Amino acid sequence: MKKVIYEKYGDADVLKVTDFEINEPAEGEVLVKIMAAGINPVDYKIRSGALKFIYRAKLPRTPGGEISGIVEKTGSKQSAFKPGDKVYAMLPISVGGYSEFVNVKEDLLSLMPENISFNEAAVIPLAGLTALQALRDKGNINPGMKVLINGGSGGVGMFAIQIAKAFDTEVTAVCSGKNISFVKSFGADHVIDYEKDDFTKSENKYDIVLDAVAKSSFGKCKKILADKSAFITTIPSPPVMLRQIINPMVNKKVFGILTKPLSKDLDFLTELIAQGKLKAGIEEVYSLEEAAKAHKHIETGRVKGKLVIEMKH
Ligand SMILES: NC(=O)c1ccc[n+]([C@@H]2O[C@H](COP(=O)([O-])OP(=O)(O)OC[C@H]3O[C@@H](n4cnc5c(N)ncnc54)[C@H](OP(=O)(O)O)[C@@H]3O)[C@@H](O)[C@H]2O)c1
Repeated sequence: MKKVIYEKYGDADVLKVTDFEINEPAEGEVLVKIMAAGINPVDYKIRSGALKFIYRAKLPRTPGGEISGIVEKTGSKQSAFKPGDKVYAMLPISVGGYSEFVNVKEDLLSLMPENISFNEAAVIPLAGLTALQALRDKGNINPGMKVLINGGSGGVGMFAIQIAKAFDTEVTAVCSGKNISFVKSFGADHVIDYEKDDFTKSENKYDIVLDAVAKSSFGKCKKILADKSAFITTIPSPPVMLRQIINPMVNKKVFGILTKPLSKDLDFLTELIAQGKLKAGIEEVYSLEEAAKAHKHIETGRVKGKLVIEMKH
């Protein structure tokens, strides 16, 4: 079987395809035949060594934090899954998805929605759970709120717009001019073109500002935050984590998000997908052999929606 590995930190060209033997799934695990693997910025950040002071990866390592596929075998006799089930999951950081097969703990797996393809399902878990856990668990999202999403055209932003709409809120998305129609297609009520207007100078007030691309800051957004509001960033830097300590004492709260691979949250997204309230935009499909090309693409920081690796079994 084939998987992508890297044996040292470095640029995208350290990625190579190698053969490996499939391990039998242990008790509580499921062997999944991977059909597609989503690509996320964290994949290249770990590969480059940029995160090695926070997460020291064991090398050689296979990148990839989310997959869709078909259950091949279960490790437990009594399992919630059976061979042939279509599943998807966000993987723990120590398990890589750019691979033809993987053993996954069964409590991380969810049954895939029936109305989407393997490619679409593979790109939803990591960015979708980030958007859900940010808006619901940090932002305490409620109907009628005004929500601003900075970076509406990225992976996290695209799902955040739709999840915020599913919670019946009024959504403003920030993106560049070329992505306005893309962002509107996910249901944003208002769009701010960051090349023309600075959203932090707006006269409007928002109950939640989700900086999905972590290009702004609480300091810059303070003026546009309403009373009892939340500023949430996807990069939990030390100042952000420190600022969280005083949240119980202040009106405008600050949060950094660290996404958890919870299948019950993925089941929540499955429901939204089944209801037609959540979909994925995919800019480009790559093969396993093109992993380096895909990493060079995502490293531009300009991806519209998501990138995916499709397996050719
Ligand atoms: N902490 C966690 O657990 C966690 C989880 C998931 C993601 N993240 C982080 O969240 C960030 C976003 O992830 P992602 O998957 O959404 O990234 P992404 O898909 O790579 O974001 C790319 C998008 O960002 C837009 N963009 C770039 N600069 C912008 C700016 N100044 N203002 C507004 N939009 C801008 C680009 O559009 P244009 O080309 O039009 O600018 C592009 O569509 C990454 O840093 C990622 O590592 C963290």
